[in-house]
Amino acid sequence: MTATFNLKRFLKPGVFSFALMPFFLIGWKVATNNLGPDPAKALALETGSWALRFLLLTLAMTPMSQVFGRVEFVKVRRMVGLFAFFYASVHFLVWLVFLLELRFEALGEELLERPFITLGFVAYLILSLLAVTSPRAMVLKLGRRWKYIHRSVYLAATIALLHLIWIVRSNFGEALVYGLLLAMLLLFRLWPILRRKLLS
Ligand code: HEM
Repeated sequence: MTATFNLKRFLKPGVFSFALMPFFLIGWKVATNNLGPDPAKALALETGSWALRFLLLTLAMTPMSQVFGRVEFVKVRRMVGLFAFFYASVHFLVWLVFLLELRFEALGEELLERPFITLGFVAYLILSLLAVTSPRAMVLKLGRRWKYIHRSVYLAATIALLHLIWIVRSNFGEALVYGLLLAMLLLFRLWPILRRKLLS
């Protein structure tokens, strides 16, 4: 009884603190000048990686809740998803401030002429839509449409993965791991539909 009570009480603050750790770790590297010879690029890579990791973690929440029979995963799903959006926003800001150097006039050109930027931007737009429609009031307001809109989280993850694959130069390992994870999560989601089709 006490254990259940404690888990309930500490679940969200615990996940919140855990999810902020990469942010402080990156902040620490900035403060101690420990980002290597190209700090702006290193910042973009670190924040981008964390955005994608949290996005995949969000998608893993429902399967984990079903596999382990624990509702706690679903309870923190929204928070984990918002952290994916948070890291994607920091990633976008890093790009805007340190790589684009706030040359807003070059924004259109970057978006049109660099396909990996276009992909990242589209993924970010989808994540923004999901973040805006994530509060409970929006769930009630949108009704059945909410579910359809929030299925696009799979699209956002696929586009974010393509964004990563586009710029992979030598280390394909990371992209491969994320790709396999996403494929497994998609299969888990689609399996009941596929099974019904196969059996009918
Ligand atoms: C707002 C639009 C976005 C822009 C302008 C953008 C831009 C960039 C840039 C400039 C890099 C570094 C490329 C390099 O020089 O090697 C990068 C890497 C990356 N981005 Fe984005 N990005 C965007 C959105 C996203 C989103 C939404 C995600 C994931 C949810 C994401 C995930 C990544 C990943 C995983 C990497 C590679 C990290 C690594 O290789 O370790 N990006 N992005």
